[in-house]
Amino acid sequence: MAQVTLTNVKKVYAGGVEAVKGVSFDIPDGGFCVLVGPSGCGKSTLLRMVAGLETISAGEVSIGERVVNEIGPADRDIAMVFQNYALYPHMSVYDNMAYGLRNRGTPKDEIDRRVKEAARILAIEGLLERRPKQLSGGQRQRVAMGRAIVRKPQVFLFDEPLSKLDAKLRVQMRVEIKKLQRALGVTAIYVTHDQVEAMTLSDKLVVMNGGQVEQIGLPADVYKKPASKFVATFIGSPPMNILPGTIDGPGIVALGDAILEARDLRQDLPAQTAVEVGLRPEDVEIASEGEAGSLPFDVEFIEELGATQLFHGQLAGLPFVMQAATDVVAAQAGRIWITVDPDRVHVFDSMTGVRLGRV
Ligand SMILES: Nc1ncnc2c1ncn2[C@@H]1O[C@H](COP(=O)(O)OP(=O)(O)OP(=O)(O)O)[C@@H](O)[C@H]1O
Ligand SMILES: [Mg+2]
Repeated sequence: MAQVTLTNVKKVYAGGVEAVKGVSFDIPDGGFCVLVGPSGCGKSTLLRMVAGLETISAGEVSIGERVVNEIGPADRDIAMVFQNYALYPHMSVYDNMAYGLRNRGTPKDEIDRRVKEAARILAIEGLLERRPKQLSGGQRQRVAMGRAIVRKPQVFLFDEPLSKLDAKLRVQMRVEIKKLQRALGVTAIYVTHDQVEAMTLSDKLVVMNGGQVEQIGLPADVYKKPASKFVATFIGSPPMNILPGTIDGPGIVALGDAILEARDLRQDLPAQTAVEVGLRPEDVEIASEGEAGSLPFDVEFIEELGATQLFHGQLAGLPFVMQAATDVVAAQAGRIWITVDPDRVHVFDSMTGVRLGRV
């Protein structure tokens, strides 16, 4: 097991594409770091540089005490699990798992012990004689994990390992991966563009955009205090509502005629400064009509989700979504009044999108 450190890592592909533009962070020994961001933001490139599958254009990657920039993938003591499991179709599950160890000249009885142990951990002991095509998607994913586990690497690298699975299986495998990583205590870096996966798996969340890091932190902190409008709308589902507003006084924003208190807002902004105000659908509460600090919300339709419901409509003439428990009844469609806890009002610079938080 080992700490992984990235220092100002850059990647420029042949042809001049700047895929990663100077990224620095570290993952403590045994930590679970998730890289999340939209398609093309450089997640796979960064992971492949840690794996040694892609050269590093500038900066440094260390695994444990060792700078690995010039060390080949086979000697980095890492194991990688990809989206398309890449199992050998003509080999049994057992042989797929044993393959890497055989290549390294591991003694036969040691291979047998490790394969059987991994199979037990992953509950695929009964499948060892089968070929990959005789397995379900989830079972194949387990075999791919098994192949990584038998190597006993210092670091696990995952690139969207669950994206080919159906929704139910994804949730199940997500929990299994987390349990497994905890049980084995191996440092992990996991790439996904699924923000729910990112929130639930990580103990360190790295949100990327356009080859750069937008925010790094504990998942709960990133959710509670997104550093930018980009992070605010990327993390959380349904996404945060963003509305244009203006500064009305220290810690106060105006949305049209309505006034909102924002406790985390910087106090030094001049009145009338244009800002963007972010309100999460789940932070909105129904108020009584005309209640102080309440906003008028014109509900157009209600979406029932089972455990919760979503009210869709317009706030100050802009599309707005609110999430409510199923026992909350809005008078079907029509105007209701809503409030938001002042600690949960987010304000962003209207030009740069940066959070205008207290320092
Ligand atoms: N071999 C390559 N040569 C040139 N450009 C590349 C190469 N591989 C990736 N890129 C470019 O680098 C950028 C980052 O790609 P990367 O695959 O790292 O994105 P990603 O975040 O993993 O996206 P996705 O979520 O779609 O997998 C993209 O603009 C991509 O087109
Ligand atoms: Mg990718």
